[in-house]
Amino acid sequence: MKEKVELLKNELIEKINNVKSIKDLNDLKAEYMGKTGIITELQSGIKDVPNEEKKEYGMNVNILKVAFNENYESKFKLLEEEEVNKKIESERIDVTLPSKKIRQGSKHPMTRIQEELEDLFVSMGYDVYDGPEIETDENCFQKLNLPLGHPARDAQDTFYLENEYEAFLLRSQTSTGQVRVMEANKEKGPIRIVCPGKVYRRDDDATHSHQFMQMEGLVIEENVSLADLKSTLEIFCKKLLGEKTEVRFRPSFFPFTEPSVEVDVTCFKCGGKGCPLCKQTGWIEVLGAGMVHPNVLAMCGYDPEKYQGFAFGVGLDRFAMFRYGITDIRTIYGNDLRFLNQFTKGDELDEIK
Ligand code: PHE
Repeated sequence: MKEKVELLKNELIEKINNVKSIKDLNDLKAEYMGKTGIITELQSGIKDVPNEEKKEYGMNVNILKVAFNENYESKFKLLEEEEVNKKIESERIDVTLPSKKIRQGSKHPMTRIQEELEDLFVSMGYDVYDGPEIETDENCFQKLNLPLGHPARDAQDTFYLENEYEAFLLRSQTSTGQVRVMEANKEKGPIRIVCPGKVYRRDDDATHSHQFMQMEGLVIEENVSLADLKSTLEIFCKKLLGEKTEVRFRPSFFPFTEPSVEVDVTCFKCGGKGCPLCKQTGWIEVLGAGMVHPNVLAMCGYDPEKYQGFAFGVGLDRFAMFRYGITDIRTIYGNDLRFLNQFTKGDELDEIK
């Protein structure tokens, strides 16, 4: 019996030692300690052993049991540790690997133009005023000398906000900024501002979009004339579009200026020869301007006998089209990344590497 136990013990130790996984180890447990396992059967065989040998027999079976359990436990721990290590190894993160590039957006071409113009006017002593896009009929038309029912309103057919906002509309021109700044100026003293922003009209073709950008300029002083307006606009157009750009002034009509002018620049596509973009005229209209109408001054609390002023409204999109060679204004607002990605030049933070 003793030899048999020794043999069995050595055999089970060897088997446990050779096991490669927890699963195999548990299979071995079933083989020895399961319901019909080797050790289990030896244990139940005690009933057939003569009484005087029972004690020794039991002790021997116990030796086997203890040997199995001890070896099983230590092997189990070993295998478990191995598996955890394997897992750690396979899930290890290499922090030295190069990271994915973070793409950062770039400034929209209209933002670039707006900032450039703001800089130019700030350098000439202007302040920048930011007005709301939802306006009252009063600020957008009435106080600009366009009373209810005035036929010139048709030229700026806009979007009215109905029901509770009945009196409100999407501003059709940044001239609303003129009214707001003049009214807000409690001392009724001189003013020199530009007001850039989005405006809305019911328009849609290659050079007109339902949403576009303007920049209003307003100068109010005691002695200011059409000559000042002319020199300001000439500096502005040449500075922005190049000294070669020709500027043309045409008499025009705006209800809130008198006299009124329209300012054209030579077409950026054909250089003035005539093409579909400029409708074969060689010119592109970029500006409306004039001397602030005395009625407007009076409605906004200024004494027209004491103060004069000039105002201008620039279509910023036209300048962007000129600058970047954009032939359809609608692409500016299409948000197509293939278009927008072309305007990354000059940004310091194009990409965080
Ligand atoms: N608000 C006018 C327009 O949108 C432009 C303009 C501004 C004309 C200021 C004269 C003075 O057409």
